[in-house]
Amino acid sequence: MPAHQTQLDFSNEKKEEIVPKQVMEHISELRRQVHYHDKLYYDDAMPEISDRDYDHLYRKLVELEKKYPTLIATDSPTQRVKERAEGFQSAPHLVPMQSLENTYSEEEVRDFIKRLEKLLPSEELLLTLEPKIDGVAISLLYENGKLIRGLTRGDGAMGDDVTRNIKTISGIPHQLHGNVPKLLEVRGEVYLSKKIFTQLNEERDEAGLPAFANPRNAAAGSLKQLDPAVVKERQLSAIFYGSGAYEGPEIKTQLEVIDALKKWGLPTHETTWEASTSEEALQAICELGKIRHDYVFETDGAVLKVNSLTQQSRVGSTSKAPRWAIAFKYEPEQAETRLLDITVQVGRTGILTPVAELEPVTVAGSRVARATLHNEEEILRKDLRIGDHVMIEKAGEVIPAVVGVLKEKRTGHERHFKMPEHCPACQAAVIKKEGEVAIRCSNIQCPAQLERQIEYFASRRAMDIAGLGEAVVAQLTEARLLKSVGDLYQLRAEQLLPLERMGEKSVENLLRSIDESRTRPLWRLLAALGIPHVGVTAARTLAEHFHTIERLQAATIEELLAIEEVGEIMAKSIYEWLREPRSIVLLNQLKKAGVHFGEEDRSSFSADGPLRGTTWVLTGTLSQPRDDIAELIRQAGGKVSSSVSAKTTYLLAGEEAGSKLERAKKLKVQVVNEAEFRKIIN
Ligand code: IVH
Repeated sequence: MPAHQTQLDFSNEKKEEIVPKQVMEHISELRRQVHYHDKLYYDDAMPEISDRDYDHLYRKLVELEKKYPTLIATDSPTQRVKERAEGFQSAPHLVPMQSLENTYSEEEVRDFIKRLEKLLPSEELLLTLEPKIDGVAISLLYENGKLIRGLTRGDGAMGDDVTRNIKTISGIPHQLHGNVPKLLEVRGEVYLSKKIFTQLNEERDEAGLPAFANPRNAAAGSLKQLDPAVVKERQLSAIFYGSGAYEGPEIKTQLEVIDALKKWGLPTHETTWEASTSEEALQAICELGKIRHDYVFETDGAVLKVNSLTQQSRVGSTSKAPRWAIAFKYEPEQAETRLLDITVQVGRTGILTPVAELEPVTVAGSRVARATLHNEEEILRKDLRIGDHVMIEKAGEVIPAVVGVLKEKRTGHERHFKMPEHCPACQAAVIKKEGEVAIRCSNIQCPAQLERQIEYFASRRAMDIAGLGEAVVAQLTEARLLKSVGDLYQLRAEQLLPLERMGEKSVENLLRSIDESRTRPLWRLLAALGIPHVGVTAARTLAEHFHTIERLQAATIEELLAIEEVGEIMAKSIYEWLREPRSIVLLNQLKKAGVHFGEEDRSSFSADGPLRGTTWVLTGTLSQPRDDIAELIRQAGGKVSSSVSAKTTYLLAGEEAGSKLERAKKLKVQVVNEAEFRKIIN
């Protein structure tokens, strides 16, 4: 919320006397900043600053509001309830979900233990230490071992019901096993592994979507998807570490909680530490710190907990956090280096991105020489100058980022950076679209854009043309052999042989893989075209629905919107892209070159068949080959899919049906045998 809307009473003379004007301005500015970063974090899942920097701002604000309570306004971000997602029903937690207090120093850990020793005088104290996953807090309700509901934390008392999404997470059991409790509200964290996070961002980049800042935001963004099929594709995971409401076999300690959860089939941490003194606790924190980068998930800290559950309830909680647990946050691994230059990269869609060229340095185990600076505003906000000493960090332990400047090391020779007014590749004027921060090259024939488009077209996720890497593409465009993506299919050996490092064998291989790409499935071509907002997943959906490029070209916006996975932005983007003159030229060129444009699906002629609107999955041994039965279904107007999901209408199960049958039962998909199928189809 902007500062001018904050309800500070500046007219009150008495308050003016007590509260210095600078303090009021400081509070107002802090509120503006916290509101701004809250929005980026909670609504957009795209934060610009680290959790540490956010905590620092927030703590400062709380501190000032405490000191000057007359200034606490109802709309201060400190009074706001966070983490509500739109489009979900909310439901109460049986036991409220609290948060943990963060600590950043050894001193604070010592104080925490001293406090406990005071609260539990002359009692034996055992603490456990677990990794703190940087994911999304979740609470699942199991009744007699059956998964009933999944809620996000929400405001701690009420959470958003994300049961359907939770059920797509493969590690989460729908049924617990063993001596299951009557009631279990289990608490844990949903996360995206670092590897999948990197893949997801690559895909988003290719689809022209903004990258997620870190795995936590990617997981939060994924869990807020309204379509469980999309959530499933994101490949989320979960780990559980505690409970809320509980009725079951007696459990006395945190270590027993973890053991029990594991026995019931819930994923838990493999390694935990135990400590009885501050020194042991700090030692455990240090040990976890050394191995934390090896975990598949991102950890930003360690959680220290009192092991005994009776001791936990005796020390109790403050209004916000338990007194029996604390989160120690590790210093993010940072390295100092110099900003040698800022170069400008031209992307596939013409967006100009400033890139930090750094003196190479090692951070969190790998060498960093470049880092994206996103846009000019970010450079100004950080006040970066060429020649500066800067601090580098890996956002989400993965993506290198410049996090700050060491201003005290400036010599006065540093240079300001300004985004160019002309494209560095083709000198065309740059433009800024209304409502966008990005600056673009205005020349649709820009050679740098063309190079990126060709690399993208040929990439493994699109047309998968081996041997067409950056260096080869650069040579081909420089030699003017490629003036558009379509020219790829006109290349001849005699044109390629004179190029650098292009022997007979490599030319033969390249031409063969270009030729082979003509018959790639339609979704690959759709992904390769680079239609804004259409990545691999959307391309598959479009191919499944339209079967040929021609039918996609004929589709109206309404028809596109009728597809569940297609939203307004994507529908408009597809519709407009297909009508741009240069897209039409490109498609004609590709068609002429013999590139496969898909095949008519005969089911389209049976739109009124008895299976209209149904989706089928086939499994087990049937009396006819599966392909023949699939064809029968299509002819009757139904769709056939290879995997069971929430969208499956029927599973046709033959003899010896296996995992698909299990899954269908779990998802409550109707299962039919062949005799029933014949009845339906007739
Ligand atoms: S225990 C009463 N254990 O970190 C709160 N929390 O910043 C009990 N978290 O709210 C939480 N790993 O969402 C606990 N091993 C762990 C954790 C963990 C991650 C999350 C959790 C918590 C947040 C606090």
